Amino acid sequence: MAHRVAARMEQIGTETAFEVLVRARALEAQGRDVIHLEIGEPDFDTPSHIIRAAQQALEEGYTHYSPALGLPELRAAIAQEVSATRGISVDPRQVAVTPGGKPIMFYSLLALVEPGDEVIYPNPGFPIYESMITFLGGTPVPLPLREANQFRFDPDEFRSLVSDRTRLVILNSPANPTGGVLELADLQSVAEAARERDLVVLSDEIYGRILYEGQFRSIASLEGMPERTIILDGFSKTYAMTGWRLGYGIFPEWLVPHIDRLIVNSVSCTAAFAQRAALTALQGPQDAVAAMVAEFKRRRDFVVARLNQIAGVSCLCPHGAFYAFPNIQSTGLPSKHLADLLLQEAGVATLSGTAFGAYGEGYLRLSYANSLENLARACDRIEATLARLAR
Ligand SMILES: Cc1ncc(COP(=O)(O)O)c(C=O)c1O
Repeated sequence: MAHRVAARMEQIGTETAFEVLVRARALEAQGRDVIHLEIGEPDFDTPSHIIRAAQQALEEGYTHYSPALGLPELRAAIAQEVSATRGISVDPRQVAVTPGGKPIMFYSLLALVEPGDEVIYPNPGFPIYESMITFLGGTPVPLPLREANQFRFDPDEFRSLVSDRTRLVILNSPANPTGGVLELADLQSVAEAARERDLVVLSDEIYGRILYEGQFRSIASLEGMPERTIILDGFSKTYAMTGWRLGYGIFPEWLVPHIDRLIVNSVSCTAAFAQRAALTALQGPQDAVAAMVAEFKRRRDFVVARLNQIAGVSCLCPHGAFYAFPNIQSTGLPSKHLADLLLQEAGVATLSGTAFGAYGEGYLRLSYANSLENLARACDRIEATLARLAR
């Protein structure tokens, strides 16, 4: 039998973190000790009151389909939360609950991008943006995020990338993989172009609560932007709920019926008992979130200081998310090569900056959602490996 798949499958990318995780686990199965700095998820457990809410929901019969866009009480709570945190007015009808934040990317692009449409997206950035743009026949237009600019984009360069074919701009702040945070002037430059050219902005704000300095700003709060911004957020990172698969999008009302149909055609709905747990996450005590963010900050301070002590490595201080993006250019090694070597020889699983796009060459991504003890051991191993290579 000929195993023929559709030609479009050649256009789909992947998320390297999951591949490296499999390789790291295979090494562990052979008895190797591996420190996991590859996967982007909090190492904390979901707060227990949220787990209890899911258990109770199961007992209460939340075992059936829910409306495609989500349980009304959760949509209302999300609308309230997003209105309060972004300083905008969100109607519950604008909310779509999905299994994780990721489907919001897929649905938004499916609903908006025609073959040949240009989509401006951050590079280095979350790899699924580029993968999905290409998969749908869109033209990916990378918006470089450079270390010299604190991993923010240059507004002039952004303006030079906007064309008559631009349909959508994707932003992500705080950012994966750099930990960079956009400033108000950056958001204003995008808002200005969006208003002028009638563009839609997909603002990935999944790390919005994991911010160590400054105040979180959403582009949705700028003039004329609520009707052209899609906010992506969710429970995975903020509440340590990656495995629950719980996210949401806030859509301009004109897009909601289309997203509704995409959900009906793909997953039908998000697990009802998980949605009840999400309601408790939003409405219950927030001290677990604050404690987790404080611990991430301690680890950030440690890991950035320690990386900067290693010969051949320099690392900017990230202001949000839980990733460090050290510059390894002076080792003279391509990023992918160094990441492979660190995994194979030192038992430290990291990601090559190039897993996030061409502009990630010269960098590694380290997730510091791991214990201080493991971070210290990992840095020692990286230092020893680089010292040996330099000899
Ligand atoms: C920038 C960014 N957006 C979205 C997601 C997706 O999150 P979820 O696990 O809720 O689908 C991630 C996950 O790593 C991410 O880093």
